[in-house]
Amino acid sequence: MKKLLRHVLVTLSATMAILALGTCLSSGQAVTPAPTTLPSPPPLLLGTAWYPEQWPESRWETDLDLMQKANIHFVRVGEFAWSTMEPAEGDYHFGWLERAIDEAGRHGIYTVLGTPTAAPPAWLTQKYPETLRTLPNGRKAEHGNRQQFNWDNAKYRELAHDIASHMAQRFGHNPYVIGWQIDNEYAVVSYDAQTRANFQDWLKNYYGTLANLNARWTTSYWSQTYSNWNQIPIETKPGNPGLLLSWKRFVSDTWRSYQKNQIDAIRQYAAPRQFITTNMMGWFNGYDHYVVAKDLNLAAWDDYVGQGHFNPIKNGSADDLTRGFKQKNFWVMETQPGHVDWAGINNDLNKGEVRAMAWDNVGHGADAISYWQWRSALNGQEQYHGALIGADGTPVPLYYEVAQMGREFMRAGPTLAHTSPHSQVAILHSYPSFWAINWQRQNKNYDPIEELLSYYKRLRELAQSVDIVQPTVPLDQYKLVIAPGLNVLSQSAARNLILYVSHGGNLVLGQRSGMKTSDNALQPERQPGPLVPLLDGRVEQYYALLHPVPINGQFGDNTSKLWAEILSTSSPDTKVLERYGKSNGWLDGKPAIITRKVGKGSITYVGVWMDDAGMKKLTEWLMQKSGVQPAFGPVPAGVDVNARYGNNHTVFVLTNFASDSQTVKLPEPMWDVLDGATVSSVTLPQYGVSVLSEKTKQ
Ligand code: GAL
Repeated sequence: MKKLLRHVLVTLSATMAILALGTCLSSGQAVTPAPTTLPSPPPLLLGTAWYPEQWPESRWETDLDLMQKANIHFVRVGEFAWSTMEPAEGDYHFGWLERAIDEAGRHGIYTVLGTPTAAPPAWLTQKYPETLRTLPNGRKAEHGNRQQFNWDNAKYRELAHDIASHMAQRFGHNPYVIGWQIDNEYAVVSYDAQTRANFQDWLKNYYGTLANLNARWTTSYWSQTYSNWNQIPIETKPGNPGLLLSWKRFVSDTWRSYQKNQIDAIRQYAAPRQFITTNMMGWFNGYDHYVVAKDLNLAAWDDYVGQGHFNPIKNGSADDLTRGFKQKNFWVMETQPGHVDWAGINNDLNKGEVRAMAWDNVGHGADAISYWQWRSALNGQEQYHGALIGADGTPVPLYYEVAQMGREFMRAGPTLAHTSPHSQVAILHSYPSFWAINWQRQNKNYDPIEELLSYYKRLRELAQSVDIVQPTVPLDQYKLVIAPGLNVLSQSAARNLILYVSHGGNLVLGQRSGMKTSDNALQPERQPGPLVPLLDGRVEQYYALLHPVPINGQFGDNTSKLWAEILSTSSPDTKVLERYGKSNGWLDGKPAIITRKVGKGSITYVGVWMDDAGMKKLTEWLMQKSGVQPAFGPVPAGVDVNARYGNNHTVFVLTNFASDSQTVKLPEPMWDVLDGATVSSVTLPQYGVSVLSEKTKQ
């Protein structure tokens, strides 16, 4: 309570200073320059993407008033505004931007400044056509949309560096600018001749010699042997797996250096307190997000439902994935205010659903939620997209729901400050593994993310908290680690897993694990490759399935769909937990899940894609065996619960996505942060939210 009061006082004094400044303005007195020190922004931030360049300056005050009333405390400004910032080469116009930022600041609204490089202006592409990206069919992208630039082009990087550094010189010490967003949603790449030459240089650097590359890619196959680096193509169709994976690594490194070019430009002038991020896209897999996130201070993603309704598993897993990029709290940099304009049917989220979705993000570790966008431009490609105010400039119905969240964020912020999710369970995800399976699904319905989610879904229900991290991070903090499809298993990842088990960890390998080397070549030993000795067992053969096949054993009678692997054990230490029932003859009676105790730890290999019921039993057994406790305790179906831990307290965020009201009995009395009372149970209507705080037991 004291903390809350302190925060309210700090915020009040800041607001009063800001209001006083506003009064000076309206009474025509001289404008006091922006203060150089400001209170920190509220710990839980509500924001919106604001495009002041699309509106007359005389309108800004009204917009900012409406934002302030909704407790919106940050705007994301500047991305896509290159043609307004630099209407002709070298002719910089930042005055409008400075006025927008400062005016927002006077409303208690901070700014995240976007570099505008996802939308190069027409003069630029006209003068420097070499900066346009080349499509896989050889045609050049054209002006008139966005993302027409080539991420690997030296001239484009020079121009991007230039605009970013001019922005940083002007705004790197602006007290209202709290951070930077580089570009927007990295996605499309280029297939031009220079990029191909750069890829060949990258390969030279990675492989050293052609002999090494030829050996590791087995290029004697189909006479692919290269005698000169310049013979190596960019493969856009299924092709040599080593080449495909290398191209993706090159793409990832090139996004990283594209981003680093702008980070360096900004860092040269910006105050260290300003963070740098970019807005990623959840499970989008165009590049290795762990690589690109390395140079960022903060991970952020754009969370869109599109057609349909909020799905806590799909959404929550993307939150957890994003949290894993920096292994700390993250931001939702864009989310939909009701509906989008790009799905098959752009239905609105139901009344209350937007708020529940935002709180669910917060539960998963989001410290900011920002709506895209504040107001639709009168023209431009996205006229039908949801916004918080209409084309007429007055609030749409959803504005009031967002304003309610704004009040709640202010109330709950101090309790949520310095808290973050920590799980006892980790799921390992790697982009090379995802790509490797995806390029050669072998069963067209085999989606590696769906397979990962089959574990995630049940573990979320049981443990109520799951981290998603890459296989090379330290794992000792976890009681249970699941690697659902670690198809490409590098030596360093294998060593990390062996270390984890030898320290008493419980490791579970799913289908297709340990099949490939880091060159996407088959391991010269059966799956799971370098982990065979630890398992004292291996995969004898894999089968793509037309229909689910029966399995039975410790977890009852279940099925495996899409894929089945026959396992074998090579020591009596390794126990068979499940076997296949009668199906194609090959599988009949053969081991399907095996496990081995290793000291205090264990390794388990699951050769099946369990149906939901089987997965429930399997994960219950794993939780029990590894001592994983649920973060909260039993909740009715449809209620999502998330925990964020601080030094002295834990905050639980409960959201009800069931179609009717649900009562949750709390494991012990807790402080209801939004209602301001101690409660021992809460009743949540559909889309109801409860934020509960519990003192940590000493
Ligand atoms: C995002 C993009 C935004 C806006 C939004 C519409 O992908 O970053 O600029 O276009 O989609 O849903």
